[in-house]
Amino acid sequence: MTRTALVTGGASGIGLATARRLGVDGARVVLVDRRPVAGVAAARLLVSEGVDATFIEGDVASESSVRSFDVIAFGAYFCAREVARAMVAASAPGVIVNVSSINSTRGLVSSSSYNAAKGAVDQLTRCLALELADHGIRVNAVAPGFVDTPMSVVDGVDELQTPAFRSVYVEGGRIPLRRAAQPAEIASVIAFLAGPDASYLCGAVLPVDGGLSVTF
Ligand SMILES: NC(=O)c1ccc[n+]([C@@H]2O[C@H](COP(=O)([O-])OP(=O)(O)OC[C@H]3O[C@@H](n4cnc5c(N)ncnc54)[C@H](O)[C@@H]3O)[C@@H](O)[C@H]2O)c1
Repeated sequence: MTRTALVTGGASGIGLATARRLGVDGARVVLVDRRPVAGVAAARLLVSEGVDATFIEGDVASESSVRSFDVIAFGAYFCAREVARAMVAASAPGVIVNVSSINSTRGLVSSSSYNAAKGAVDQLTRCLALELADHGIRVNAVAPGFVDTPMSVVDGVDELQTPAFRSVYVEGGRIPLRRAAQPAEIASVIAFLAGPDASYLCGAVLPVDGGLSVTF
């Protein structure tokens, strides 16, 4: 049976890489993004690569928007709740993979809202995993470190290209693997969590950070 993967934030970065990976693995992918032009372009790109991809415009931070496209946090919360309801109603258990961050367990100056939100994603992952286990639905999360996506560009500056990033994280070895991740390296772990090889993972938040959280 063909699996269907709903990928939020699918127009760019980790979401696009995840849609590509799951699509190449044989899933029908539905990209959801609040940017319709980028979303349509991303779906077209994937189709041109042989992936069965479609796009739905939606803002996952809007409860009504999430409900309106029958799919199934705040973003992660609304989506997980709606998708879990749909799975239970259809007696078609699936898998939910949230995208957290290593910031979820750390303090960082000027990042209180982001870090707090990611902490909430971790706890949502654990609690939903407990609540949905009896329905056969597994819930886990990835916690990336630095990833080379458009999100790394702040005020026109790519933080991964700054002397500070190079000296501290690369040359200084704060990231033991001495580089940022490519989006596909996060996508492959998401694909693992979404697949049968992760059948005994429940409520895990998996760091995918080149070792950064070990040295933090
Ligand atoms: N890039 C990193 O270094 C990094 C590190 C840790 C965690 N993350 C997390 O990974 C996830 C993806 O980030 P990315 O680096 O791929 O970013 P990105 O900017 O490349 O892509 C994010 C996509 O999400 C879409 N989006 C944003 N808000 C939305 C909403 N409310 N509804 C629907 N779509 C929305 C954007 O339009 C964009 O296409 C985020 O949750 C981010 O916090 C990223």
